[in-house]
Amino acid sequence: MMTMTMKVVCSVLLLLGLSAASAMSSGVSGAVSSGVSSPASMTSSPSSPRMKLTYKELQQFNGVKRFELERSCCFGALLLDEERGRLFVGARNFLLSLSLENIAKHEQKIYWPAPVDWREECNWAGKDINMDCVNYVKVLHHFNRTHLYACGTGAFHPTCAYVQVGHKLEDHVFRIDPSLVEDGKGKSPYDPRHNAASVLIGDELYSGVATDLMGRDFTIFRSLGHRPSIRTEKHDSRWLNEPKFIGAFAVPESENPDDDKVFFFFRETAVEAHGFGKVTYARIGQLCRNDMGGQRSLVNKWTTFLKTRLVCSVPGSDGSETHFDELRDVFLLQTRDRKNPLVYTVFSTSSSVFRGSAVCLYTMNDIRRAFLGPFAHKEGPNYQWVPFQGKVPYPRPGMCPSKTFGSFESTKGFPDNVIQFARHHPLMFNPVTPLGGRPVFLRTGVPYSFTQIAVDRVNAADGHYDVMFIGTGQQAYDCSAVHASPVAVTGLSLPTDIGAVLKVISVPKGSWSSTELLLEELQVFKDSSSINNMQISSKRQQLYVGSETGVAQVSLHRCSMYGKACAECCLARDPYCAWDGHACTRYLPNTKRRFRRQDVRNGDPNTLCSGDYHKQRVLERRLYGVEGSSSFLECLPKSLQAQVTWTHQRHPNNPREEVRPDDRVLQTDRGLLLRRVLRRDGGVYQCHAMEHGFTQTLLGITLEVLPSTSPASSPHSPSHAQGQSTNQKLWYRDFMQLVDHPNLNTIDQICEQVWSRKHGKAVPDPSIETPASDALHSGHKKWKHLKEVRKGRNRRTHDGRPASRAPRSAGE
Ligand SMILES: *[C@@H]1O[C@H](CO)[C@@H](O)[C@H](O)[C@H]1NC(C)=O
Repeated sequence: MMTMTMKVVCSVLLLLGLSAASAMSSGVSGAVSSGVSSPASMTSSPSSPRMKLTYKELQQFNGVKRFELERSCCFGALLLDEERGRLFVGARNFLLSLSLENIAKHEQKIYWPAPVDWREECNWAGKDINMDCVNYVKVLHHFNRTHLYACGTGAFHPTCAYVQVGHKLEDHVFRIDPSLVEDGKGKSPYDPRHNAASVLIGDELYSGVATDLMGRDFTIFRSLGHRPSIRTEKHDSRWLNEPKFIGAFAVPESENPDDDKVFFFFRETAVEAHGFGKVTYARIGQLCRNDMGGQRSLVNKWTTFLKTRLVCSVPGSDGSETHFDELRDVFLLQTRDRKNPLVYTVFSTSSSVFRGSAVCLYTMNDIRRAFLGPFAHKEGPNYQWVPFQGKVPYPRPGMCPSKTFGSFESTKGFPDNVIQFARHHPLMFNPVTPLGGRPVFLRTGVPYSFTQIAVDRVNAADGHYDVMFIGTGQQAYDCSAVHASPVAVTGLSLPTDIGAVLKVISVPKGSWSSTELLLEELQVFKDSSSINNMQISSKRQQLYVGSETGVAQVSLHRCSMYGKACAECCLARDPYCAWDGHACTRYLPNTKRRFRRQDVRNGDPNTLCSGDYHKQRVLERRLYGVEGSSSFLECLPKSLQAQVTWTHQRHPNNPREEVRPDDRVLQTDRGLLLRRVLRRDGGVYQCHAMEHGFTQTLLGITLEVLPSTSPASSPHSPSHAQGQSTNQKLWYRDFMQLVDHPNLNTIDQICEQVWSRKHGKAVPDPSIETPASDALHSGHKKWKHLKEVRKGRNRRTHDGRPASRAPRSAGE
């Protein structure tokens, strides 16, 4: 028991050390110059989410469903099938079909391992038999009304298969037809660590992938169907230079299908930044669906391939830009006009010095404009990249052969000079810049990166909002802060609190600017593993999330969690939710109910909830404290952005006074801690939460102070050393509190105290004498009070509560 508790304390200390180290490293980022400017101007949105729900809290609320599979992992491919009501999943050695209603129920499985001889071959080549030489299903597409198309690494032997899923939901067919298994080269990667980006259009597969065992020959490849397969120029760094493919999408350009284009999103080593070392740029590449390759040169190669840089940056204080170049994910939000979806992207930085992540939004107009701009051209004495000034041949490379823009029937009919120009100028000079010139959402100095994004357009009372669901996970670059940690502890695992889902909206503020609101942070996996895939169903209002260890399902909203009062619902500013007169519930704009109240833009309960909030009864409870021992007055606001103040009224005749924290009275995120109760502490305490200019009283606690009888807790107990050693005693007491109390939740509280003491928020007064024996004896009483408060609170809320901002302990 004792050793276990000590371990918990150690890991708490380790976490504190780490947070201190990462705070330090983000503090110096401005001073180190490696092409990274000061992030001083990056004052992003409030740093904490309004609501933070741990896995446990989500579970208590029945807010998360989970699918896991023994002896499998790496649920990297997710495919939504709204009509059949299924979520198809590609994992290690398995294909799965889960129910969209509840992924934990009615699953169907296909065991799809790599054949033994391939595994042996892979093992002889020096790969790990269990990690590498197995089949990771990486590619999953709808093929036709009865079949899916799936590809896996097949122990470094890419393989694809047609998967029969039946006509209708009732068919319950889910199997691989063994006669329909084929070579997956150019469709699936060989290496499980690599990814492919692909899109299946008609009966053709367009994929960006490495096509060789060594992972050096990267290509954008068209296969399947009846036309000859076609690819990018081989080993030409101007075309592709060590790319990492992220996404592929088909977007029509006009009403004429001949103009349809396919866009690839990737990041690669920038040829144009040669001379600045190895620099990564994010790219968007385009090609025409009706590209048939050239006739004499570029035979079976793309003749319409163009690419350009995707810029996502913020201006620094010195006028330079800080770039986010590590493109991680792309989501196309369809609008009414199929030709103009909105392109939502997530980026992290490629710098190991300055860490941050951003969401950037692009329009198809800006993307098309870049491809119609000047070509990049290498010229001059220094071979610099400049805009091409000469005459561009006709038809302009990048244009699809169609009646809309010319008279060419096929790319095979393009003149030789067009083909030659296309071959040498795949890169555009102008980059694509984001809408508004800067990210729509930004986070810096956090221990995770954005890895995934899915967006839902929601109709609210005051217009529509694009709700962004952002998956987080491991940094592209490993954190150096770990090594710089002053706490050298070995054998303890590092913090894994990185995989979460953030729910964010951008609210217009004035006519030109907007402000971002981080509504929720959800820990959807118990082990907080990095999120590597996300699919959204607007129809079912569900989000499906994949990671290394499992698949999770959460609702897009949890309105009732915001509270039981109109003001709480209104302050949440969640476009999914509104006050219906009785509760905070899902807002549907077409249901004509007069008393639906919602104000996402302003979130002002004074105008919206007038009359309503007065009716809310303030919760009252009673607490007994023993003179000389400590008491904890717990009050948890639902919102982490609320500012809590306490008032104290000693006697009904006395005025209500604001509690001013000092060495004896500590205000923590979870409540008020009276370290050593005095007789004059008795009376009525009220806890008030202020948010967005609106104040509400959450709780009233009547504290009755009982005179102490135990000699051990008497304030006259022998005093010991001063200064330094008193400090040690306080630490020791914190240990003892942990030993005493079985509920690990309270560790958060203690961390909070330790944390604030370490950081000088409340330096302990040497005059406070707290002998260890005092803590030992009075501990039980103290925790009994705490438990009473806790029990009371559990009765009050069955629907969970916001988490503390304190560092997580290893036990949670
Ligand atoms: C779908 O494709 C598979 C594989 O080519 C084929 O066997 C099947 O008949 C097709 N189904 C339909 C409805 O066309």
